[in-house]
Amino acid sequence: MARRSIGLAVAAVVAACRPDPGPPPAPPPAPVHPAAAPAPAATSGATVWGADYFPNVVLTTQQGTKVRFFDDLIRDKVVAINFIFTRCTDACPMETARLLEVQKLLAGRLGRDVFFYSISIDPTHDTPDVLRDYAARWHTGPGWTFLTGSEADITSLRKKLGVFQADLQAKDHNLSLLIGNQRTGQWMKRSPYENPYILAEQLGSWLSNWQKPRPTDRDYAHAPEVRNISSGEELFRARCAACHTVGGGDLVDLAQHRVGPDLRGVTARRDRDWLARWIMHPDGLLAARDPIAVELLERYQHFVMPNLRLDDADTAAVLGYLDDVSRPAPPPAQVTAQRQTR
Ligand code: HEC
Repeated sequence: MARRSIGLAVAAVVAACRPDPGPPPAPPPAPVHPAAAPAPAATSGATVWGADYFPNVVLTTQQGTKVRFFDDLIRDKVVAINFIFTRCTDACPMETARLLEVQKLLAGRLGRDVFFYSISIDPTHDTPDVLRDYAARWHTGPGWTFLTGSEADITSLRKKLGVFQADLQAKDHNLSLLIGNQRTGQWMKRSPYENPYILAEQLGSWLSNWQKPRPTDRDYAHAPEVRNISSGEELFRARCAACHTVGGGDLVDLAQHRVGPDLRGVTARRDRDWLARWIMHPDGLLAARDPIAVELLERYQHFVMPNLRLDDADTAAVLGYLDDVSRPAPPPAQVTAQRQTR
């Protein structure tokens, strides 16, 4: 029985998130979705973290549809929620890129039994139109909704979800991803720098009470190996791999989602000092109209490389890693074998 009503609620929300067919509708009156709550079973949504805990604030999707946070977005669902702003040049593009990898790993499940929500913390700038452009630019799939709302509502949401930071430009966005299953009451904060395979496993299997099929062998075959890796490689995987490959790399099947250039050989192609300055301050170089930076930005369709706040030591380590993997281009299989012997 419970399953049935969950299905209905999900269908109603999915329907609610489709683009409106006609001209822009007037803001609908509250209650916004009478149809979204077809007499839910008594237990629906009723865990420790239930309707009386989560603010049921009204948010607006990138399609301009009004939805309620608890009733329409999270009730009885497995979700990943993060807070972003589209003007962000720090961690948000990185988070979006990482979630894209998770989306890819979850294959067709996003929008069916797992839902992503990216909520703007810069709501006056991030109108539904701006969010729609952002979603389109990143090729996010159905089941990943971008939301805006009133500043006060979003702040209360962030506080309730334990991810509030007063400073919009806060450097530490590390814990702004929340994943959970509202029905079972399991919630956890994750770093968006988390390995995408682990995030996909947690969302797709653990939070789904292992009811769903586990990832196929194919996924495991592509999972990164557990081995000793250099700090440069670790940094690269955590901070750069969401957007860059090196010669295709281990995660080659995800390459279609990469938004930045492949970095094999880049340390030979470019001046070392320029690279270090770029990696530490891409925004600064762009602001100074550095010709290479401007040319790259044009070439990569205005996807901006974020300032990841790397210091000198991190930058040297990551450049060392790029040197290593760029050496006389052995095929990827040999690179792996070579690295394992370290
Ligand atoms: C959110 C995506 C993203 C992340 C994360 C990211 N980059 Fe980039 N990177 C880009 C884009 C996009 C470009 C192309 C230039 C532009 O449009 O700003 C780029 C360009 C570069 C270039 C210049 C390549 C060339 O051909 O000259 C280097 C080097 C580079 N990135 C290194 C890094 C390193 C090292 C990291 C991790 C510490 C990193 N990037 C993290 C998106 C990203």
